[in-house]
Amino acid sequence: MRLSQNVADIGREAKKIIVAIDGPAASGKSTTARRVAGKLGYVYIDTGAMYRSVTLRALESGMMDELRLTPEKVRFLLEGIAVTFEAGRVFLDGRDVTSAIRENRVSRHVSFISSLKPVRDHLKALQQEIGSGKGVVMDGRDIGTIVFPDAELKIFLVADVSERAKRRHRELLPGNREGGLLPSIDELKREIEQRDRDDAVRAHAPLKKHPDAVEIDTSGLTIEEQVECVYRLAMEKIAGTAECGAGA
Ligand code: CDP
Repeated sequence: MRLSQNVADIGREAKKIIVAIDGPAASGKSTTARRVAGKLGYVYIDTGAMYRSVTLRALESGMMDELRLTPEKVRFLLEGIAVTFEAGRVFLDGRDVTSAIRENRVSRHVSFISSLKPVRDHLKALQQEIGSGKGVVMDGRDIGTIVFPDAELKIFLVADVSERAKRRHRELLPGNREGGLLPSIDELKREIEQRDRDDAVRAHAPLKKHPDAVEIDTSGLTIEEQVECVYRLAMEKIAGTAECGAGA
């Protein structure tokens, strides 16, 4: 997979930090990360969108129907893909897939694709390259534990599963593309629970909280409150970094 060059280059110059936001499905990571990045003037990288794009490509190329994805097939899948983030949209080989990667058929298969080691190794290397200049807010499942264990600020967002299912339901309303079939809140709850289990028990980079991560339960918080909370923590870290760093 290739990523657009401009994304990789932004934020290399100034003294900046890395904000890693992890947590289970639909815990508010993407919205929080995007808004915090906007307030900080940082680049936002949605690593879930990268895993979802690979999954969409596997589905579209019929590879998911096959019983076994051999390492060769996975390599072929990854090498042919270019993912670009631009103005809050996600492009797969130049095609706007922002809605398509959120469809439920992708959600149902993404944990399987994300459990494959070659996929994880490939995306981890890209994510580390993007973050090498700092000034990024990256969200996912293993950002604070595996991709950037030295990130200055690590956040672990959690929320009650019923609340998360309701949020996902609201998100799917306008953009639902499965022939008008909107999953019920109960179905979404079951899928979210299943995906959380799959993500937590996999052998490579399972979902877990880094011991240094600040855990925030967003169940009773508004988006503004959770954004403000993470932003404040980031500003504290930036102030700390600026004081300590030579030439800050
Ligand atoms: O938005 P939502 O919480 O539904 O999930 P996402 O962030 O879009 O991630 C979709 C899936 O990608 C997760 O369920 C994981 O299986 C996988 N993922 C991962 O394994 N590692 C990451 N760093 C990000 C996502």
